[in-house]
Amino acid sequence: MNSILVGAQWGDEGKGKIIDVLARDHDIIVRSQGGNNAGHTVEVGGQKFVLHLVPSGILWKGKICVISNGVVLDPISLLEEIEQLHQRKIVTRGRLFISESAHVVLPYHRVLDAGREQAKKGRIGTTKRGIGPTYADKAYRIGVRVSDLLQPEILKEKLRSRLAEVRLVVARYGLTIPTLPSMLKDYLEAGEKLRPYITNTTVMLHRAIDEKKTILLEGAQGTFLDIDHGTYPYVTASNTTSGGACTGSGIPPTMIDSVVGVMKAYTTRVGEGPMPTYSDFLSDTLHGMKREFGATTGRARRCGWFDAVITRFAQRVNGIDRLAVTNLDGLDTLEEIPVCVSYRIGKKEIIDPPSDLALLAKCQPAYRVFRGWETDTSGARSFKDLPKPARDYLQALKKLVGARLNIISVGAGREQTFFYE
Ligand code: GDP
Ligand code: IMO
Ligand code: MG
Repeated sequence: MNSILVGAQWGDEGKGKIIDVLARDHDIIVRSQGGNNAGHTVEVGGQKFVLHLVPSGILWKGKICVISNGVVLDPISLLEEIEQLHQRKIVTRGRLFISESAHVVLPYHRVLDAGREQAKKGRIGTTKRGIGPTYADKAYRIGVRVSDLLQPEILKEKLRSRLAEVRLVVARYGLTIPTLPSMLKDYLEAGEKLRPYITNTTVMLHRAIDEKKTILLEGAQGTFLDIDHGTYPYVTASNTTSGGACTGSGIPPTMIDSVVGVMKAYTTRVGEGPMPTYSDFLSDTLHGMKREFGATTGRARRCGWFDAVITRFAQRVNGIDRLAVTNLDGLDTLEEIPVCVSYRIGKKEIIDPPSDLALLAKCQPAYRVFRGWETDTSGARSFKDLPKPARDYLQALKKLVGARLNIISVGAGREQTFFYE
């Protein structure tokens, strides 16, 4: 079975953890969009791994991992990640493959990202990893691709022509970028180190499909950070929804059998932008438990109640047929748990999230309050181990969102996960 896994909220839903669990039953795990703005946490045997570019399937011996064409790849960051995996005795040679068509994040992309973020007005709260400017260069058709890192003359010419304009913009921000010779040296060196991993991943994946290998596409970010379907402009620069996984890998929609939507049992968001169900109380509660700090930037995530308006929309736009609910244990101490079932503007009830941000800002969440379970669920290993109010809560989420309740997670560890239906 070939599957796509997506985040159904604003990212950090626990995708890394669920990918790790699902990877056991797939042969190849593919990252197909985004870059090292992602931070996917996997905890195995008490060891914590945070993956940024390398697919979370890498922790299973023998699984093949692919970074495909739709990703924007920072080669220096990737080499660091590979090195860290090697230090922990994880083999990457012959297991990790990188698309020659993926676009390369260069130092000036990061500086341009930081420069734009300096401005108070229009700040998006990006991860400052250069993601937006790299995708912008791709769209302008002046981007550097991974294959260019292996061709010194081509890389030199591309950088030379790009830098002329970049220098002017960077100077306006009062920032600086490395010189052309130093950039060339660093990135050609990085290209040489990555050479054994670089290939035409589209062709490779099609061959694998012909050989009846199964593929799991690991989404990064979440549905409401999608550049088309998210809360624009407070989004990332790629299509984080299931369609993006197809364009970003070259695997056609007709080859996909299932779409897994990962969602927390509540909502979190990091960076700027609207979040109708935000709650000071829940943020304080979870931060007090030392939870919900970003895996990439360490920023405190905003926390709020489960929002069924957005997750129902995520089910539709991604075609989610299976749900994975994570962080159920985050609600263990609460007496009552509100769930947003619709929005209201004045007396009008709204059941679909408005795409217009000004309208979304006017939406007031309408809550249905559930009884809490006030019991530690982290030791549950099957649905029937959960207290009745927790089972009722999960059944209600399933009904509200409209997909099979396939996986439940009650802790960060691999073993704190079980399948339900
Ligand atoms: P991703 O970006 O979607 O992969 O999610 P992150 O790794 O950025 O953030 C999810 C956080 O929740 C990580 O710290 C995970 O270890 C943690 N996590 C995932 N599922 C659970 C769960 O069910 N319970 C608890 N306590 N932590 C979880
Ligand atoms: P994972 O894969 C949560 C957010 C940033 C910012 C916006 C744009 O770990 O779920 P960018 O650097 O992409 O231009 O930032 O998107 N963002 C994420 N939030 N999880 C992520 O990835 C994110 N990747 C980007 O905080 O609001
Ligand atoms: Mg994350």
